[in-house]
Order: sequence, then structure tokens, then C-alpha cells
Amino acid sequence: MSEPAPLAFQTTPVHPLFGVEVLGCDLRRAGEPDLYAAIRQAFEVSSLLLFRDQHLNDEDHLAFAKLFGPIEDRSNIRMDGAARISGVSNETGDGGVMDEANLRLLDLQANMLWHTDSTFLPVPALANILQARVVPSEGGATEFASTRAGFNGLAPELQERLRSLSFHHRYSHSRARVDPELAKLKRFTMWPDTEWRAVWANPVTGEEALYIASHVFAVSGMQAEEGAALVDELIAAMTQPAAVYVHQWQPGDVLVWDERAVLHRGTPWPYEQPRTLVSVCVSAGEGDGLITMRPGLAA
Ligand code: OGA
Ligand code: MN
Repeated sequence: MSEPAPLAFQTTPVHPLFGVEVLGCDLRRAGEPDLYAAIRQAFEVSSLLLFRDQHLNDEDHLAFAKLFGPIEDRSNIRMDGAARISGVSNETGDGGVMDEANLRLLDLQANMLWHTDSTFLPVPALANILQARVVPSEGGATEFASTRAGFNGLAPELQERLRSLSFHHRYSHSRARVDPELAKLKRFTMWPDTEWRAVWANPVTGEEALYIASHVFAVSGMQAEEGAALVDELIAAMTQPAAVYVHQWQPGDVLVWDERAVLHRGTPWPYEQPRTLVSVCVSAGEGDGLITMRPGLAA
């Protein structure tokens, strides 16, 4: 009998319900086959991975992200022109920071609603790989909640009901909640509405998670008000304080999270201070369970 392969790395939980910090792993080497397989398995199981002290340049960041699937072009989504790698930043590029009325800053503030990235795209995201470059002296944490743990905590009757529901998503819906002018920008209105089933079962682990976001504007078969109340109630249930992991960024931290099973939101910081995170999203493929998420398909 052959010896079991040694573990590629050690992990330590970041929260009792989900998420691990991966220790002793240089993401520049993540393309080595056994290492990626171990990272991917941890991603499927734990939903959120933290790697500290990485300081990836754009090229390394993109190369790591590509291991998970096709890179999503966030330049259509974000309010800056950079293709593929996307700044999540209030820096203006001339050494200054944006003033509060700036629409880009309003867009960052819309990130402070609990959301899942890219549910409004024709192909939604599997993962966001987010790295901190510049962090403020206080605030600016990113908060996460597991919608797998959250779904498991719902009453069985509600779980059963959700398995047959779907949510309608629209990018401008979440922006309108912050500022009606922001919601009119073409980048928020350009996508046709999407409809995804409310529960995403992970094809590797079989675990179900609620697939919900601030972008949900309607629930299948429900009146607008009733649907909105259900969405608010569900997001509140998923994000009770004890269920939330608060990540205080250090420069060089890389977080990878499973968009199928995690809600996240930004938090405020003193806006006279710069804060720059860089994000790469990877699109979900049919094999990631997307094939089961179109409404009308049998479970
Ligand atoms: C994102 C995001 C939150 C933050 O990059 O998708 O929501 O804290 N970021 O900047
Ligand atoms: Mn986001």
C-alpha cells in the first residue's frame, strides 16, 4: 500500500462556521498540480480561504485566478477602465482620494450592501480573488457570511420552499438603493435581467447554499412586496452577527471566496485615507453546478 500523500499545507479556521487560513503556501506556486488540487478541495469544503503576506503582482494574481476557471472581465462591472484586473479603490490616480459625491465612491458604498458578485451577469462568478494593496488606518474591513451555514439553519419547511423558488437579479437594483442617479449609468443597466434558482448545491460536496444578493429584485411567483420581504428576511437570517467573519485587511492578504455559498459586504473607512484592493473574479462553469441553477430545470 502506498503512503498517503503528505498534506500540501496546514489550515486553521478563521470562523467556527466557515473559512480557513492556509498556512505556508506561496500562491506563485499554486499551479503545481497537487497544490492546486489541495487548494481547490479546501475552497469547495470551506468556502473562504485566506492567504497572508502574498503581495502578488497583477500577472501572478491573474495566473492564480485562472486555475479556478475563466477570468471575468470586471471592467464592464467596475467603474474603472482597467481590463480584467479590477481596482476596488478610492484613489484617484494623482495622489488624491475621491470626494464623497463621486459616483465611484457611491459605487463602493453599494458594495456595503450584503451581496454576491456578478449574479446579474449571463455567466455568474464562481469566485472572487481579492488582494489588499493599500489599507486605511482603521475601518475598511470586508465582512463575510456563509449561506451554506445559513441555509442549514433555516426551518426545513422554508428550505423545501426555497428549493423550488428562483430569484431575479438586476445590477441597477442594488445601485438604486444607494443613489438613483448611480443606477442610471449604462454599466448598471446594460445587462438583461437574470434568473437563478435560490439554492445552489455544490457538485463536489453536495452541500446546499442560498444563492442570494442585493441585486435580487423579484422572487418567482411572488408579488413585489412579498418577494422583497422574503429576500430581506433571508439576508438577515444569513448575516446574524455571530455568523459573520470580519476580515481586517493587511497589505498582501489574499482572500478567495466561493460566490455560490458566501455573502459579503464592504464597510466604511475614513475616506480621506486611501484604500486599494485588487479583485479578479472567475466565472462559474456548468461543472461548478451552474447547469442546475437555471429555473425550470428539475433538481
Ligand atoms: C468586491 C467587494 C468589498 C470591499 O470586491 O467585490 O465587494 O470591502 N469588495 O471592498
Ligand atoms: Mn463584491
